[in-house]
Amino acid sequence: MAKLLVTGGAGFIGSHTCLALLEAGFSLVVIDDFSNSSPEALKRVSTLARLQLPERLQIIEGDIRNSEDLDKAFLLNNELVEAVIHFAGLKAVEESIRNPLSYWDVNVNGTCCLLEAMRRNRCRTIVFSSSATLYGNSERVPIPETSLIEPLNPYANTKAAVETLLADVSASETGWRIASLRYFNPVGAHPSGLIGEAPNGIPNNLFPYLTQVAIGRRKDMEVFGGDWPTIDGSNIRDYIHVMDLAEGHCAALKVLRDEEPQLLTVNLGSGRGYSVLEVLRTFEKESGIKVPFKIGKRRAGDIPSSIADPNLAMERLSWKTKRTLSEMCRDAWAWQQANPYGYSN
Ligand SMILES: NC(=O)c1ccc[n+]([C@@H]2O[C@H](COP(=O)([O-])OP(=O)(O)OC[C@H]3O[C@@H](n4cnc5c(N)ncnc54)[C@H](O)[C@@H]3O)[C@@H](O)[C@H]2O)c1
Repeated sequence: MAKLLVTGGAGFIGSHTCLALLEAGFSLVVIDDFSNSSPEALKRVSTLARLQLPERLQIIEGDIRNSEDLDKAFLLNNELVEAVIHFAGLKAVEESIRNPLSYWDVNVNGTCCLLEAMRRNRCRTIVFSSSATLYGNSERVPIPETSLIEPLNPYANTKAAVETLLADVSASETGWRIASLRYFNPVGAHPSGLIGEAPNGIPNNLFPYLTQVAIGRRKDMEVFGGDWPTIDGSNIRDYIHVMDLAEGHCAALKVLRDEEPQLLTVNLGSGRGYSVLEVLRTFEKESGIKVPFKIGKRRAGDIPSSIADPNLAMERLSWKTKRTLSEMCRDAWAWQQANPYGYSN
């Protein structure tokens, strides 16, 4: 049973991916400082996987910028870590504009520390959470991986910088197996309603905001701009169910383990875009709840449309999305209803 280190494994995408990896038979060590998550998420992951903590899921509360914390995770039980799945990082675009130093420190310096720890501990396989935001306002939609990298904010700059760092590391010595997965818009939750997205404070993303309005925690939805050059004037995004995304990580890991050392960069998206108003209508249909909304101003730095070209993911990972927008809405709503205040119920 191969052992993996998952950084940021208690977070939204990390927790769902931990479940998929446990179900695929891996043994996991999670390192997380819980700055944006709760240990409760991992308890529930273990329940869903029919395990009892710490069976196959060990948890270290620690910071990826701290070499002692990292070595503790790598050396746990004296078993070699075969690969790292690296989610830990800061992810709010607006916060990154106000506080770029934290973003460069956690996202870029944190990854440097992690890569150094990997070398010290003879591990050379890593799957990295990159983001479609590094394409900026791409002229080509659907966006292939060969599109220009034109980040428009500090958060996206850090993702582009880490991809460059990984390319340099991969070129520096043989043996590195690296996958950068460029996520489009991860949403939804595990269909059990036991784990899901639990943002601190006011949500930055559409889905958690929408479900918090529907449950009555917030008054109404603001749609950012009604005059974009799209079918109905609202933004279009490529939403991807978080369980599809979790399975995408398993597929990428399999390719890295089975094939020769390589640097792989792949979009994870569906190839289908939906406007904010389409999402609202689908959510209302699935939940049976009318969601009050108003059309507000465009947000600075926003782009009209972002849709993945998913062909390379199919070709290289034999992976594509399976779940529909209705399932994304249904599962996000089931999670929100069962956990109105996230893990702090
Ligand atoms: N959610 C999205 O829309 C999206 C889109 C593209 C890429 N990503 C990337 O995917 C990754 C996971 O995103 P998420 O939505 O699950 O975010 P999240 O905030 O839910 O998860 C990140 C986890 O990392 C932990 N963490 C943060 N700083 C840490 C540190 N210094 N040391 C240890 N742990 C630390 C947090 O406590 C949290 O559990 C991030 O790197 C993010 O940039 C997310």
